[in-house]
Amino acid sequence: MMSPARNSFSLAFDVSASGALMDHIYRHQRHIYDASRKFYLLGRDGLLADLSPPPGGTVLEIGCGTGRNLVKLAKTFPDALCHGLDLSAEMLDTAERAVNRARLGERIRLARADAASFDPVTLFGRERFDRIIISYALSMVPPWREALARAADCLSARGSLHIVDFGDQAGLPAGFQVALKAWLSLFHVTPRETLAAELAQLAKAQGLHCKTASRFRGYALCAVLSALPPNARKGRENQPPMARPAPVELLHLSG
Ligand SMILES: C[S@@+](CC[C@H](N)C(=O)[O-])C[C@H]1O[C@@H](n2cnc3c(N)ncnc32)[C@H](O)[C@@H]1O
Repeated sequence: MMSPARNSFSLAFDVSASGALMDHIYRHQRHIYDASRKFYLLGRDGLLADLSPPPGGTVLEIGCGTGRNLVKLAKTFPDALCHGLDLSAEMLDTAERAVNRARLGERIRLARADAASFDPVTLFGRERFDRIIISYALSMVPPWREALARAADCLSARGSLHIVDFGDQAGLPAGFQVALKAWLSLFHVTPRETLAAELAQLAKAQGLHCKTASRFRGYALCAVLSALPPNARKGRENQPPMARPAPVELLHLSG
């Protein structure tokens, strides 16, 4: 039986070769995705902890996968309206189940679309979002620069775009870098080594503020592009802060 969240998926979407590839990758992986990825998709909880959407604000995750981040966000910020899009119907099916299990169907909307060409009005009936997150998805989107530009175009006047993805690995041993890249390529993941430079350029072109931080010796890159200067983005004083994640040891990476 179709659940209500499924009805919000875009039925007009033309299933592309990329969508078929993502479905192929995740058809079985999605069942162990959340349990396994916590060991190597580092920096996601730090990104969520720093998000601070404004009261009643809107959040969009591009490449939302299993919905793990959206469910955490909706629980932490109880009046935020959350939206997620992904190219993989398989991942969206898992996300939909997670949303329904958490009884968050009223506050998390899901849709199938491509990161580089989505139309938020058709998908969600709104043009702009207060917070947009892209977590470990740019490394899987071939036209990742277009996806970044699309995200920046969808920011509200006080909005911010929060990104975490694989970094340039510069502080890690050369052997580790080679092994990591080879392993990631099995999943069609390509670290975007020029991501920090591209973000700086995009920020300049769009009049946004850009802050990037290399984490875990370059394993991950965290970035925020914001319409307001970083220290002017107001937190939500009346909301409980999301617990800061425990520091992650690099030991996990080889485990
Ligand atoms: C590594 S997963 C990350 C999922 C989630 N953001 C997280 O942090 O756990 C990458 C996700 O990006 C999605 N994806 C890949 N290419 C995409 C595209 N062109 N448009 C939208 N989503 C895409 C994949 O289907 C997958 O769910």
